[in-house]
Amino acid sequence: MKAKRVAVAGFGNVGKGVIEILLQKQIPELKLAKIVVKHPDKSRPFNVDPELVTTDFARVVHDPEIDIVVEVMGGVEDARSLILDALQNGKDIVTANKAIIARGNEVFSLAAKLGRTIGFRGTFVGCNTLIHDLSLSAGRIRRMCAILNGTCNYILSHMSRRGIPFEQALKEAQEQGYAEADASDDIDGIDTARKIQILSGVINNTFNMPPDVPCEGIREITMQDIQYGRELGYAIKLVGIVEKGKDSATIFVRPVLVPHGSLLASVEDANNAIELEDDLGVVSALVAPGAGTYPTAVAIINDLLDIAHGDTFMMPTSNTPIVLNDTGDIETRYYLRLTVIDQPGVLAQITRILGDHNISLASIIQKEAVSAKSVSVIVTTYLVREKELRAALQQIDLLEVVKAKTRIIQILA
Ligand SMILES: NC(=O)c1ccc[n+]([C@@H]2O[C@H](COP(=O)([O-])OP(=O)(O)OC[C@H]3O[C@@H](n4cnc5c(N)ncnc54)[C@H](OP(=O)(O)O)[C@@H]3O)[C@@H](O)[C@H]2O)c1
Repeated sequence: MKAKRVAVAGFGNVGKGVIEILLQKQIPELKLAKIVVKHPDKSRPFNVDPELVTTDFARVVHDPEIDIVVEVMGGVEDARSLILDALQNGKDIVTANKAIIARGNEVFSLAAKLGRTIGFRGTFVGCNTLIHDLSLSAGRIRRMCAILNGTCNYILSHMSRRGIPFEQALKEAQEQGYAEADASDDIDGIDTARKIQILSGVINNTFNMPPDVPCEGIREITMQDIQYGRELGYAIKLVGIVEKGKDSATIFVRPVLVPHGSLLASVEDANNAIELEDDLGVVSALVAPGAGTYPTAVAIINDLLDIAHGDTFMMPTSNTPIVLNDTGDIETRYYLRLTVIDQPGVLAQITRILGDHNISLASIIQKEAVSAKSVSVIVTTYLVREKELRAALQQIDLLEVVKAKTRIIQILA
């Protein structure tokens, strides 16, 4: 078999891993043919033949000898134009760029039109193998629940385990290289939302992924919520969920309470996890690193080998849009943290409003006052429609005895 000639655009965290494996492992099916960088004079972790290095996309795109372009530059505009030009010029693509794949319509429809392949295992780092398998049985997946952001999982698991505040946990995640200097995309749930958009496309075999999914991050999770959740037997995790209906899907990203002892609760540090349930109720799961040079580079090499071998590929083939269900129609259990004045009759006012909305309570705990002004009341509900709960809370939060907006967190049953 003639080796596929590979150009790697990007020599950063991920690119250096791909380049190192291609140079050192001597994989017979793959040959490194070009490296594209932005700053050619930057010092690199190891030496490469200077003849391989260029800053000029054209030297890759118009080189008929290059078969596959690996895009690991990040960003959107340059990456997008490199991918589109490379496809137009007969190359297959492998990328780890979530921003581009989550808006997959443009690149996937061009690839489909031209009969080219786009590999994106790298967007799922260590969980790529499960997702690849999932794509082969995509029609049969009923529900997926996943921890997809290493930074958030690091923050939440260290707040819980060591009792450190959010800001300290975030700083540590940045020091350890899990989070960018500006970690907004991570902690606001945007990175998880992109991955869940991509996964919803894989599950539904469409590259017409929903452009926006309801998304809530972890900025407002307090130490109190983590402690009270623990007392009730739960851990807080940021998850993305896809639940397939007959002709529609419920898709969202939010922090949830997961029972201690469950797989998702046991996922610590910067790890990611995916739990899948098929149409027969069979659950499979994988826990794997969510970031890092080698885990991402290995995912990319897997794509390159699939292309070289002509193997079945995890690329959605249809352009059918996904109809999103209203998250207000979710029926689930909730944790509520109310901040109220410590005086007789307060609980009666709250439970009356909840009762008026047919919301049954599984537990209600009043915490000892930590300040003279207010106390926390922790309520867990039985199954309730989210719309109904929000309507009740709108009334509750207007009560004079309620001193702050009520915090609600879904309990994942
Ligand atoms: N880091 C991870 O663990 C991880 C995991 C999964 C997915 N990803 C994704 O992988 C991609 C790369 O991430 P990274 O962490 O490796 O980024 P990075 O460390 O910032 O590296 C980016 C590389 O791309 C090059 N580059 C950027 N813009 C360029 C341009 N216009 N022309 C030519 N070269 C350009 C840079 O060149 P210079 O070195 O010359 O400046 C650098 O070598 C991103 O899409 C990211 O979301 C990363």
